[in-house]
Amino acid sequence: MKKRIAVFASGFGSNLQALIDYIKGNDLNGDIVLVFSNNKDAYALNRARKNKIKAVFMDSSGYNTRKQYDTKIIELLEDEKIDLVVLAGYMFLLSQEFVRKFKNKILNIHPALLPSFKGTHGIKDAYEYGVKVTGVTVHFVDEGLDSGPIIIQQSVDIDQNESVEELEEKIHRIEHKIYPLAVKYFCEDRLKINGKKVKISNKK
Ligand code: GRF
Repeated sequence: MKKRIAVFASGFGSNLQALIDYIKGNDLNGDIVLVFSNNKDAYALNRARKNKIKAVFMDSSGYNTRKQYDTKIIELLEDEKIDLVVLAGYMFLLSQEFVRKFKNKILNIHPALLPSFKGTHGIKDAYEYGVKVTGVTVHFVDEGLDSGPIIIQQSVDIDQNESVEELEEKIHRIEHKIYPLAVKYFCEDRLKINGKKVKISNKK
């Protein structure tokens, strides 16, 4: 059975687009059936509509707590029988309840080599720190901040003359390559989590 994927995005949605494109051209054993956003102006919602994917915006301001907001989102995901939640620039922290409900079924992409440079400015923080190597991490989401089991990492050198914008471009190119791969592995049931470690098995 093909996995039913929900992508959560708050902004531009280039990772969503990369996944849409990958699914069109490759065998992935999953379909994006929902794009969800907490931001009504997210360009990611347009990308979904253009590709005939259900696009849902929910305004969080009507809810007193994150838990109440997430309860509504959980209802939506249950209605849609979602197997996998892919966070792609979702700039809103998930509640513990949400993470527990979808334990080991939420992926995130982070634009640095975790556990370095956690948080919302992974690229700029690495650039300003002066590290010579940074990269991209795809990981499962747990209750901590950018702390779940790591699925794929790819490094990139920071050249001494490059601008932060150039580095951003390099990072995004890597993101668009490795995120679809991690989603593919998940959809083929090839990811085995053992504590903090994730093993990727060969295709059956
Ligand atoms: C990406 O850099 C991702 O690593 C981070 O948020 C950004 C989202 O970009 N979590 P986009 O909306 O997919 O273009």
